[in-house]
Amino acid sequence: MPSFTRMPRLGVNIDHVATIRQARGGREPDPVWAAAMAELGGAEGITIHLREDRRHIVDRDLRLLRETVQTRLNLECAVEPAIITIAIESRPDQITLVPERREELTTEGGLDVANGGARVADAVKRLHDAGLEVSMFIDPSIRQVEASAALGVHAVELHTGQFADAPFGKARDAELQALIEASAATRAAGLTLHAGHGLNYVNVADVAAIDDMAELNIGHSIVSRAIFVGLERAVREMKEAIDRAADRKAATNKRL
Ligand code: PXP
Repeated sequence: MPSFTRMPRLGVNIDHVATIRQARGGREPDPVWAAAMAELGGAEGITIHLREDRRHIVDRDLRLLRETVQTRLNLECAVEPAIITIAIESRPDQITLVPERREELTTEGGLDVANGGARVADAVKRLHDAGLEVSMFIDPSIRQVEASAALGVHAVELHTGQFADAPFGKARDAELQALIEASAATRAAGLTLHAGHGLNYVNVADVAAIDDMAELNIGHSIVSRAIFVGLERAVREMKEAIDRAADRKAATNKRL
């Protein structure tokens, strides 16, 4: 029985805009402007990561974006008590818990919820007690999905980095299959399905077509394209790529 096709929502990660600003320590480019342009281009959410070392997004950005984002503000943060306190005070529409290491270039690997123990459970409890929606950024593993479900979170974001990095052929097929199986487990656990990391204008099609995919968080490829075509257009083109994948899937389902 073919399942009902819905287009995933596009959350645009604007950390890289802040990275360029921080390169000079000045005021431009402003991620607050970027969020407005992304929303004009059709973004259905804005994602930012307030890292402990404040290497890109800073507290001022979070404060202003909370006031100005018209869609949904998704705040990525580490399982660190001080950051969780800021997250609670800022009241984003969603918190995505991510692992964080100072030496990493970008978020590497998902949060190990299965072995996270009291640290992860306490962070989730504080966020839930504050009435916030929590999503867990995890590797596409059924064990991690089940551990997330046991904590009562509303969503998981499956890490698509390994899929994105895999060479075309068997390795990539295996990574896609892992995403499909973890997605099915997410659905079975009654959680909302998100995905992100390393997605671009080409590889987004396979991930957008996974049943019940509700949200894709994409940053680097959109901001890279924006250098050449502008941010509003770069976001619109990503939306079109996602919509094309959903349309193709709907047409296939109709034929079945
Ligand atoms: N989702 C999460 C949880 C992330 O940490 C990141 C990177 O900051 C992204 C999505 C976006 O990844 P990319 O910039 O590769 O599109």
